Amino acid sequence: NNDKESIKMNIKDILSEKVSAAMVAAGLPEGTNPAVSLSNRPNFGDYQANGVMGAAKKLKTNPRELATKVVAALNLDGIASKIELAGPGFINIHLDEKWLATQLNMVAQDTHLGVRQRGVNVDDKQQTVVVDYSAPNLAKEMHVGHLRSTIIGDAVVRALEFRGDKVIRQNHMGDWGTQFGMLIAHLSDKLASEEVAETALSDLENFYREAKVRFDNEEGFADRARADVVKLQSGDAHCAKLWQQFIDISIAHSEEIYAKLNVSLQRSDIMGESAYNDDLSRVVDELMAKEIAEESQGAKVVFIDEMASKDGEPSVFIVQKSGGGFLYATTDLSACRYRSDKLAADRIIIFTDARQALHFKQVEIVARKAGFLPENVSYQHCPFGMMMGDDGKPFKTRTGGTIKLAELLDEAVLRASDLIKEKNPEISDADLAEISNKVGIGAVKFADLSKNRTSDYIFNWKTMLSFEGATAPYLQYAYSRIQSIFSKPEAKEAQIVTALLGNTVINIIEPQEKALALKLLQLEDVIDAVISECTPNLLCNYLYELASLYMSFYEACPILKEGISDEVKVSRLALCQVIANTLKQGLDILGIEVMDRM
Ligand code: ARG
Repeated sequence: NNDKESIKMNIKDILSEKVSAAMVAAGLPEGTNPAVSLSNRPNFGDYQANGVMGAAKKLKTNPRELATKVVAALNLDGIASKIELAGPGFINIHLDEKWLATQLNMVAQDTHLGVRQRGVNVDDKQQTVVVDYSAPNLAKEMHVGHLRSTIIGDAVVRALEFRGDKVIRQNHMGDWGTQFGMLIAHLSDKLASEEVAETALSDLENFYREAKVRFDNEEGFADRARADVVKLQSGDAHCAKLWQQFIDISIAHSEEIYAKLNVSLQRSDIMGESAYNDDLSRVVDELMAKEIAEESQGAKVVFIDEMASKDGEPSVFIVQKSGGGFLYATTDLSACRYRSDKLAADRIIIFTDARQALHFKQVEIVARKAGFLPENVSYQHCPFGMMMGDDGKPFKTRTGGTIKLAELLDEAVLRASDLIKEKNPEISDADLAEISNKVGIGAVKFADLSKNRTSDYIFNWKTMLSFEGATAPYLQYAYSRIQSIFSKPEAKEAQIVTALLGNTVINIIEPQEKALALKLLQLEDVIDAVISECTPNLLCNYLYELASLYMSFYEACPILKEGISDEVKVSRLALCQVIANTLKQGLDILGIEVMDRM
């Protein structure tokens, strides 16, 4: 539902427009930033406009006097109940409860919860955004290191789509490179001894280990492996077939994990490193022709002066090895060109751990110089920190091995199941299975997504599965509590009254209701913040605050109690409905499912 009305639901936008107009009326130049934001304390109003101070400084005039003029010209009739001038020139805006209720009632009617969609609403341009995430290396099984890229990337993708951008997912899988020679050679021997590929590759980790042991110790094997890579790259049919078998099974492993994780990646989103193979020599030739790359000790190298060290040494970026082989870096240059030319990206976002930050900085500089990445295409590497164990060291198994993602997720579901059973011993097996799956996976995802993206974080089962604090179980519980209200017979009755009363049902009486209204009307701003900096943790915070406000509202404001008038019942039920819808939608963007009972 995106009629004209829905265009007017963003409070910050509405106030910005009004304050801007007042600033112009007070003599300030058109386009002066009104700097409208939420107040951080209720006695400073609900929103503040702080733009006068900056403007006064520029004009070298008295801010307080200027603010007085702006306030005099500021027309918020029907919107604000009070406008105050504070300090050197802050404008504090107290919103009118009736107006807030009207806004909220519009949100309640809107299937998109008042969030405008680009491409649908005229004033917002839809972007084509290429998002590169997950990207496991197929030689090995997916491990915890790929968890973050997968779920952070997927949350950002869903937020972008919710806002109406056109997203092209790119799963840049590591399916190429020298290790594949070793893997093919080993697979070839296994299949010769009558083993089928599915069995041989049922445990990829193990398979890789075996191949590596042979590579390091067995006479002649390493040479065979090297020869197989060359054969593979020159299109040898036998090697290509083995490689394909390996890749298919390995992709199936990843897909199992995506399904478990409720992640939206499909097979058609895979654009692995191998897909760029044919373009790599062209990339290098072009860099040479444009004199961006040069020969150095047999290799082809770009010396990046823009990234020189303190003593003036340029940063070294190898695009072709002395033996002729291409690198991860070459592939990323080719990917830049493909994404801006063929996919027509306006924006490219890549999620990997922070250790690759230097690599992507180099890629961007070189790709821009070479014209692979036009200036109007934004290129954003979004690094993230590491997952740590309770000991504060990188997350490992007790014996120091890497933790497989599949096993971690199974454990999450198992732990959730114990927890749910404890809370609800009567629960049926089918319900238990469904709920523990949603709670267990949700807990792992929320724990990760709610952290500041760039910092390392400690993986802790107990905190993530707690029903208190900012966790998935807490939010899922809040949601199911609201659902349980709706299942009461009194609620059914009241809903009949709703139908009789028509549309405008939510009234704001208590402070808890006002706080909820303000929060609910901020959804678009939160989504925009998530999208611009690729920070799903902001949405996590928002949902946690919303659920907490709901809990306080529930304590303070009886909904179905005897003696509560029909109007109030209906209003509070309608408010509950918007809260439930927002929680559900918000969690859906994070890829976390809710349930009616838990
Ligand atoms: N496969 C890589 C890794 O596991 C991540 C690839 C990220 N994307 C890219 N365009 N390089 O580290």
